[in-house]
Amino acid sequence: MNILVTGGTGYIGSHTCIALIEAGYTVVIADNLCNSKIETVEKIKEITNKEVCFYQIDVSNKSELECIFINHQIDAIIHFAGLKAIEESVRMPMQYYRNNIISTLNLAEACQKYNVRRLVFSSSATVYGENEVPFMENMGLLPTTNPYGETKAMSERILADISKAVPALSISILRYFNPVGAHQSGLIGESPNSLPNNLMPYINRVAKGKMEKLYVFGNDYPTVDGTGVRDYIHVVDIAEGHLAALNNLTEGIHVYNLGTGRGTSVLELINAFEQVNNVKIPYEIVERRPGDIATCYADTSKAEKELGWIPKYDIIDMCRDSWRFEINNEL
Ligand code: NAD
Ligand code: UD1
Repeated sequence: MNILVTGGTGYIGSHTCIALIEAGYTVVIADNLCNSKIETVEKIKEITNKEVCFYQIDVSNKSELECIFINHQIDAIIHFAGLKAIEESVRMPMQYYRNNIISTLNLAEACQKYNVRRLVFSSSATVYGENEVPFMENMGLLPTTNPYGETKAMSERILADISKAVPALSISILRYFNPVGAHQSGLIGESPNSLPNNLMPYINRVAKGKMEKLYVFGNDYPTVDGTGVRDYIHVVDIAEGHLAALNNLTEGIHVYNLGTGRGTSVLELINAFEQVNNVKIPYEIVERRPGDIATCYADTSKAEKELGWIPKYDIIDMCRDSWRFEINNEL
């Protein structure tokens, strides 16, 4: 089966390509490299020892995208391509709406035109807003605090409407919690073209001595130690979640959380990282970051029951694999 992976050279996409190839699928990657590097294609080939077809195209450009469907019989699409920096989305909302929404629409139209019936879409736990934890798939979506989050909620609604109009389509929407970690080979990991402002990349930078200390955003939340609690999940588990979603696609639209169901505070993550990697992470408590919520973790029972997917890795694995990639790759 030929799987079109948009955003396949990105962080989660590259790990998913490896999982797909190892499961016997043929992968066609479409990525414009706006937040990833061409070398990733060679690394995927090196790890899997298989050929990968790569197109440097913009998924929001319809004619560029259609070339792929003309050249390949595509059986399913996994759509990762998107812009994802929260702060940037606040400064440049038009670019975010254009890129993320038009890409989704183009792919949905291509599904109809080229008779592709299977689609897996990357969404985010951000669409739950400040709901009660644990977050469950059947909860009403709350407004997010930024255009990035809105593009995810909007794409979900667009796909739900398309699903009603085209019942033969099988769509799976995966809401990721906080993906961290890297491939065990140390070859593939998070390697963006600009600096992300998420916690794990910052911990790595402090560990490497590139930053003097970590700023912990608030210690007065109603959590175990006052710092923010999140559901960190190993990126290889997320990749396996895509495989499970693809293998279990059925007609209609289905939403799944991809998280571990366990919350970890900022200080707990720092401690785990220090212990497993034998490094020191100096930190300072500062003001809360605007837009942050106290606690976010998933109810994972639906993915477990319907997809047979259970994450394998714990926080220690995540910290170890993240650091291994960091020291192997001078970013
Ligand atoms: P990433 O930036 O590493 O990967 C996205 C890839 O898409 C990049 O390689 C980028 O070059 C490409 N891309 C962006 N716009 C494109 C376009 N118009 N045409 C072609 N390629 C394009 O990000 P990631 O962390 O791998 O995230 C993958 C998806 O998962 C994104 O849609 C993101 O919003 C979503 N997501 C990520 C997280 C996270 O914390 N990493 C959490 C929830 C959801
Ligand atoms: C952020 C995004 C969210 C996105 C998610 C995954 C915001 C407001 N939300 O969520 O939309 O889906 O990333 O990409 O940006 N922290 C520090 N110091 C730091 C960095 C983070 O203390 O230098 C804390 C945060 O306050 C939070 C936790 O670490 O409590 C995790 O932060 P982060 O990795 O940015 O993820 P989210 O806040 O979950």
